[in-house]
Amino acid sequence: MSTISIIGSGGMAAAIGKLATGAGHRVEVSSREATSAQTLAEQIGTGTTVGKFGVTPLGDIVVLAVPYAAVLEVVRQYGNALAGKILVDITNPVAADMMSFVTPKDSFGAQEIARVAPGDATVLKAFNTQFSHVLAGGSLAGQPLDVFLAGNDAGAKTIIAGFVESLGLRAMDIGDLSMARTLEHMCLLSLGLMAHSIKHTNFAIGVSLPV
Ligand SMILES: NC(=O)c1ccc[n+]([C@@H]2O[C@H](COP(=O)([O-])OP(=O)(O)OC[C@H]3O[C@@H](n4cnc5c(N)ncnc54)[C@H](OP(=O)(O)O)[C@@H]3O)[C@@H](O)[C@H]2O)c1
Repeated sequence: MSTISIIGSGGMAAAIGKLATGAGHRVEVSSREATSAQTLAEQIGTGTTVGKFGVTPLGDIVVLAVPYAAVLEVVRQYGNALAGKILVDITNPVAADMMSFVTPKDSFGAQEIARVAPGDATVLKAFNTQFSHVLAGGSLAGQPLDVFLAGNDAGAKTIIAGFVESLGLRAMDIGDLSMARTLEHMCLLSLGLMAHSIKHTNFAIGVSLPV
């Protein structure tokens, strides 16, 4: 069992928090609005606690469940309170046109987060390719959802892969943090599929392997 701290109290926080408590992990949620965190903690249940926003999270794993537009400032606000933590970046830095990014041309979201995080924190991209309501279900069409992981620290990736698998999901390592750029592009793929082909959001992107 691990302790997972989630910063943010929206749909992704709810999905990951509920899966985590369901798998026996201890969950702490914090949000800029303490009442939102309290409401989410009650919704998740199973002993979920509320952490104070900006204060050292309880967990060694910290899920950054806020919009990309807010995440750099949130990480800066926490500052050294995130030292030594594994920061799970679930953000999608998509621009309003839903076809491009708000990040600098020569960078990507996870790298921008790593730049503002404390030096001894480890940033790892995960969960960003699944819609929150699909993720909440854990599986689709009888198949566990794929959670793609990108990060530089092998030890942190093993920990997060173990966490992901404990939720009944399939962890798929796709390489080092530079590959997070590809995971961010996969969000554009989902949005393009939604707009032009599938016309709804009840789908998941994953890998099919021979049995
Ligand atoms: N929704 C999806 O299907 C999906 C899928 C994959 C990845 N993601 C990514 O997951 C992250 C969370 O998405 P979500 O759907 O859970 O978002 P959401 O439901 O809109 O919740 C966002 C959370 O971030 C907080 N927040 C917003 N601005 C903030 C700020 N300036 N400072 C501090 N906290 C702030 C909100 O607090 P308040 O309640 O106080 O506003 C709320 O708790 C995003 O980066 C998104 O790109 C989402």
